[in-house]
Amino acid sequence: MAQVEEKLIAANAALDLIENGMTVGLGSGTTAAMFLRLLGERVRSGLKIKGVPTSESTAQLARELGILLVSLDDQPHPDIDIDGADEATESMCLIKGGGGALLREKIVAFASRRFVAIIDSSKLVKKLGKFPLPVEIVPFARSLVADAVVDLGGKPVLRQANDGTAFLTDQGNWILDCSFGAIEDPSSLASKLADIPGIVEHGLFIGLADQIIVGRNGSAVRLGN
Ligand code: 5RP
Repeated sequence: MAQVEEKLIAANAALDLIENGMTVGLGSGTTAAMFLRLLGERVRSGLKIKGVPTSESTAQLARELGILLVSLDDQPHPDIDIDGADEATESMCLIKGGGGALLREKIVAFASRRFVAIIDSSKLVKKLGKFPLPVEIVPFARSLVADAVVDLGGKPVLRQANDGTAFLTDQGNWILDCSFGAIEDPSSLASKLADIPGIVEHGLFIGLADQIIVGRNGSAVRLGN
């Protein structure tokens, strides 16, 4: 089945989790945008929710769809957060940040009472790491962080925008896409990365997802609670 149809199936299944009055973390990326469009239709039919966007592009789309936005300061604990992922395992570990929004995505996932990842079946893997791990860095520390990533066995590549300049995150930071190969121990890598000064955040989401909804063969398969 086409990836796009599986994403839509997962997005549709997540819509069933949204109830009137909820504050909803709004993820970033194409799967999250599908969810957002479906949510926008419900809002136009009378559903009352507030959204906390995880990126400027999500905020813009949500506004176009008529979804009321609030900040994390206004609503520090959204009832639920719905977001995509680049890779996921059955042990509920994720790689995120392919769209460059990992910092706000992790903040909102952490803050939310429930975090649900929505993916197509190609994203479900036995081991994380085929997808290069996005690491958001302070530009000043680029060389230091790159060397430290190499010491950890990774190959860092500075992400570029379409015009060939460094890709800028919503916070004005840069991203190193770091190929580690199969990541045998995501928790250990996460804590080693967290110890490197100049890394603002990395795309390993461990112990954050309550549920992963996988679009697969025409139906939605749920992992977790
Ligand atoms: C953005 C992300 C996205 O959730 C991730 O890249 C998946 O994107 P898509 O749904 O387009 O495949 O982490 O920072």
